[in-house]
Amino acid sequence: MAVNNRLNPNQPLTCTGSDVLFNFAELRTCLPDAGYRLLTTNYITMPGYELGGAEERKELQDVLDNGILMRYGFDGPRKGIWKSKELEKEICKVFGCNHAQLVSSGTAALTTAMGALGIGYGDEVIMPSFTFVASFEAVLSVGAIPVLVDVDDTLTLDPVAVRAAITPKTKCIMPVHMCGSMADLDALQQICKENNLLLLEDACQSIGASFKGKQLGTIGDAGTFSFDFVKTMTCGEGGVVMTNREDVYINSDGYTDHGHDHKGVDRGADLHPFVGYNFRISELHAAVGLAQIGKLPKVLELQKKNQAQLKNILSQIPEISFRRIPDPQGDSCTFLSWFLPTEEITRAVVTELKAQSILAGNFYWFDNNWHYIRKWDHLKNGKTLHALSPEHKAAVMHHANKNFGPSDAIMGRCISTAIGLLWTSEQINEKGEKIIAAIRKVLKQNSVVSA
Ligand SMILES: Cc1ncc(COP(=O)(O)O)c(C=O)c1O
Repeated sequence: MAVNNRLNPNQPLTCTGSDVLFNFAELRTCLPDAGYRLLTTNYITMPGYELGGAEERKELQDVLDNGILMRYGFDGPRKGIWKSKELEKEICKVFGCNHAQLVSSGTAALTTAMGALGIGYGDEVIMPSFTFVASFEAVLSVGAIPVLVDVDDTLTLDPVAVRAAITPKTKCIMPVHMCGSMADLDALQQICKENNLLLLEDACQSIGASFKGKQLGTIGDAGTFSFDFVKTMTCGEGGVVMTNREDVYINSDGYTDHGHDHKGVDRGADLHPFVGYNFRISELHAAVGLAQIGKLPKVLELQKKNQAQLKNILSQIPEISFRRIPDPQGDSCTFLSWFLPTEEITRAVVTELKAQSILAGNFYWFDNNWHYIRKWDHLKNGKTLHALSPEHKAAVMHHANKNFGPSDAIMGRCISTAIGLLWTSEQINEKGEKIIAAIRKVLKQNSVVSA
C-alpha cells in the first residue's frame, strides 16, 4: 500500500485507493494518532471490516484459549464455548427468523438452501442477469438449470420477465437483492403463490436491509447471507441459511455436515438420513461474526447517513436518476446506485473518473467480469471441469446466450458508488463535488445541457 508520512503526525497520511482493502487493518492502526486522517474515500467496500477491532479479538481469544476450533463435538474440553451456536441464535434474534444454519461461505449457503429445498436435476431456477457468479454456481452444483432473466431499474429481477420465463420445469424464483437493496418482493411473492413456486432470496449483499418491516433473507422459503470479507458483516469467510421452515432447517443442518442427524452427543453414532457435504463454518470464523453482528446497527446508521449526504450532492445533476427502491425505508445503503442518460455518456464519465483517479469505489457493473451476464463467457460456453449431462449443458448454454437487451439498457447506464463508514462529512462533500464536476464536464462535451 502506498502510505506515506506514517511517523509524522503533522503531515497528512495518504494512500492509494484500491490498495486499502487488503491493508485496511494496518492502515487503521495509524489513524487514531493525532494529526492522522484517512484522505482517500475510494476504497472498495461493503464495509463490516472497517469497524473491526478489540471486540473481534476478544471473541477469537475465547476460542483460542479453549483450543476447540470445530463447531461440533468436543463437548467437555470446550468449556461451554459454542460460538457458532451462539451466532446462529443471534442471527435468529436480530433478523427475525426461526432458524439459522451457519456455513463456510455465501456460495455454500446458496447450495445448501437449494439442496434443502429439494431443488435438483432438471429443475429450473429463475434468477437475474445481474448478480455475483456464485448465484448460478449454486444452481449448477445441484444439477439444476439457471434461467437468467432481465433486471429492471431496481437492479433486480423484473417481475414481467420472471412471468415470461416460467415453464412446467420452473421450481424456484431466486431474487438477488443486489448492492444493499431489495427486489420487488410483493410482485415476486405473488408470482410464486400463483404458480406454486419456491422463493429463495440471495440476500448475500443486503445484510440488514428490509422489505415492509421484514429483514431480507427471512421472507422466502429460505434466504442466504454471505459473511465474506467484503460484506456488511464479516466472519472473514462464512455464510448462513435462514428459514422459517423447520424441514428446510433440518435438511440444511445435515447437508452441511456430511448428512449427520446431530441427534445425540456422540458424533460417531450419528445417523445419516441423506448424503451431505462439508460446508461447516469454524468456531474462529463464527467468533468474528459474533463481534460483527453487535456492530451492525452502527454500520447501518453510518451507511444511511453517508449515503444520504452523497445522494444529496449527486441530485444536483438533473440528468442523474437513482435506482428504484421498492421500500426506501429498507435500503441498507451499502451503495448508492445511479443512472446516466445513455451508455455512451456513462462510459465517458467512467473514463473521466479514471483519468482523475477517482474511479475506485465507483462500480460500472456492465464491464465487470463477476457480476453481469455480458462477461460470463465461461457460463455461455458451458465450461466446467467436470462433465455435465448433454441436456443439462445445452439448457444452461441456451439460457446464458439469450438476448438481455433490457438488462443492457439498465446496466449500461448504471454506476454504483460504495459507501464507506469512516468517511467524514468533508470527505463526502469533496468526493461528491469531484464526481459531479466530472459528470458536468462530460455532459457539456456531449452537448447535454445540465443545470
Ligand atoms: C449476490 C451474492 N451471492 C452470493 C455470494 C457468495 O458469497 P461468498 O463469497 O461468501 O461465497 C456473493 C459474494 O459476493 C454475492 O455477492
